[in-house]
Order: sequence, then C-alpha cells, then structure tokens
Amino acid sequence: MNKPIRVAVTGAAGQICYSLLPRIAAGEVFGTSTPVILQLLEIPLDKAQAALRGVGMELDDCAFPLLQDIIPSDKPEVAFRDANWVLLIGSKPRGPGQERADLLKDNGKIFIAQGRAIDAVAAEDARIAVVGNPCNTNCLIAAAQAKRLPRERFTAMVRLDQNRAVTQLARKAGVAVSAVERLIVYGNHSPTMFPDFANATISGTPVPQVITDKAWLNDTFIPTVGKRGAAIIEARGLSSAFSAANALIDHVRALLTPGPTLHSLAVHSDGSYGFTPGVWAGVPVRTTSPGTYEVVKGLVHNEFAKAKISATNAELVGERDAVRELLA
Ligand code: NAD
Ligand code: LMR
Repeated sequence: MNKPIRVAVTGAAGQICYSLLPRIAAGEVFGTSTPVILQLLEIPLDKAQAALRGVGMELDDCAFPLLQDIIPSDKPEVAFRDANWVLLIGSKPRGPGQERADLLKDNGKIFIAQGRAIDAVAAEDARIAVVGNPCNTNCLIAAAQAKRLPRERFTAMVRLDQNRAVTQLARKAGVAVSAVERLIVYGNHSPTMFPDFANATISGTPVPQVITDKAWLNDTFIPTVGKRGAAIIEARGLSSAFSAANALIDHVRALLTPGPTLHSLAVHSDGSYGFTPGVWAGVPVRTTSPGTYEVVKGLVHNEFAKAKISATNAELVGERDAVRELLA
C-alpha cells in the first residue's frame, strides 16, 4: 500500500461531487493501492452542512476499503490542509439562458479566498484542478493568489469538452469512441472553445479524410460541442453532473499517467498557439512524470483554426480584464 493521499474537494454536497466522491473513494482516480483521505468543503449554511453530513454518512455506508478518513469542514484552511490534490468544484452553476461568464461576478471571489488558503496550507506537492465555472478564469483568480505554489500546478477542466467532441466524431464516423485520438480542445470552456478536428485522427487517419462532410465539421460539430453544456441544462434543468465528474477523473488520471498521449488541459499560457501569456487556455499537453506536464507544441493550424483560436483567446483576455481587481 502507498502512503494515503489527501484530496480536498469543494462543493462536496453538490451534484458533481455526488458522482465524484464515491469514485475517488473506490480507488478509480489514485489507484487501488493508494488510501485516500477526503477533506470536504461546503459553505457554512446549515442546509449545506447537513447535506455534507449526509454525503459523509453515505460514504461511510459504502465501507470503501481505501477510504481512510473523511474530514468535513466549512473552512478552507481546514479542508485544504496538507492536501495533495485540491479539486475546486464548489460554486454556483448557471441556469437556462445564462452564459458561464455571467457567473464570474458571483463565483470569481470564491477563488480568491480559496487560492490564498491553498497557498497557505496545502501540501508542498499540491495540484489544483478547477471545475467551478467559468473555470478558466476562476483558475486564473486562484493561481494569482499563489506565492508558494508554482502556477503550473493550477489547471482548469476542458476535458468534458474533449470527451463530448470525441463522442460526436465517433458517432458521425460510425466507429467506437476509442478509435478517436488526438482531439484537443483549445481555449475557453465556453461556446468559443475550438475542438480541433483537423489534427485529430480516427483509427490513425486524419478526421477530415474520414469525415469528408466539411459543412458538418465546421457548422454542426463545433457548435454542438461548444453548446453541449447549455443543451444539457435545457434538457435536465440542471447542469451536467456525472459527465463532469467523469471528466474530472479523466483530467486527474491524465495528469498522473506519463506517456505520449495528448490531453486537453487548460493551463497557464506561455504564449503557445497564440494565446495571450497569463490566461488559462485549453492546449495539448502530455504528462512527463506523475503530476507534471508539458505543453505539446508544433501542431499545425490552418487559417480557419487560427481564427477560432484567436476568438476564444479574445474571450479569455476579456474575462481576465473583467476580473482585474480580483487578481491583486
Ligand atoms: P451544485 O449547485 O449542485 O453544487 C455546488 C456546491 O458548491 C453547492 O453544494 C454549494 O453549496 C457549494 N459551494 C458554493 N460555494 C462554495 C464555496 N465557496 N466553498 C465550498 N462550496 C461551495 O453545482 P454542481 O452541478 O456540482 O456544479 C458546480 C460547478 O461546476 C458549477 O460552477 C458548474 O457550472 C461547474 N461545472 C463545470 C464543468 C466543466 O466542464 N468545467 C462541468 C459541469 C459543471
Ligand atoms: C458543462 O459544460 O456542462 C458545464 O460547464 C455546465 C454549464 O454551465 O454548461
């Protein structure tokens, strides 16, 4: 057995966590040789704390052999203490008719205090993954508070968009999802995101040679992926939950598994692919050692793709400028 890993999770009584926590406790994320200590944060309202107690009871009732302890709290400084992974999910989801950026005003400030607390008390090797929307800019806000931890440790989730894109391409081509590889989502987790089909492959062949319907790729595929979150809210009356939890598991596992596979991750931009340095943008990364990644450079984009990347970058820069006062 490995040393136990401390995993802090915010929004622990919410929808996404209801699907996520049992999977972490079962060993699906950190492996079946790694005991976990769940450090669960919820807001200090009676209703939220009662719901959190209920979640704790259900986790107890699963008798997960790997679940060594559960630490519920309403204080970030308690929940994040010595955490090796911090999963920032807690925040308000959007409702029908809203864009994720509309949440910035309410959600942005959560990430200042949490960023500070992470920097103050999380483990030396802490990795942070942001899911709460708008996740790219919330990640920027949290990372701006970090003085001790390197900003590369802060990543935001565009994996759900990658997974959505993979399924759409597989359906259109009539193949299994496993046949689709190298699909990277660039930019913001918003309708401006760019799922780069041209560099993706189906059974090793570039997607445009398999799916030759260019109009479908440009005018159906891209907006379907970009607006999938809204379509789910429209259908369910609630935002995606178990698919988001599943994507976060893929995100963390990708970061734990070194190898040549390309993953879509929103990371601190170093200017690659024309993103403005300092925003958190979805780019191709590969994991070099557990928890450490590098941006994969050199993927070639045509003018259409470059224009899409430029548009999603402009939105990220606009969000950054809108929260400038939260970045001090
Ligand atoms: P939810 O409303 O079901 O749960 C959110 C929970 O967070 C609530 O229990 C709430 O009390 C808690 N919370 C709020 N502020 C908090 C704080 N400061 N500290 C700790 N907990 C806090 O929402 P959900 O469906 O679980 O979604 C959570 C977030 O994830 C939303 O912002 C949603 O838009 C986002 N999301 C992102 C993606 C993505 O792909 N990046 C996908 C799905 C959902
Ligand atoms: C999603 O993509 O499903 C989430 O970001 C929720 C939303 O607001 O769309």
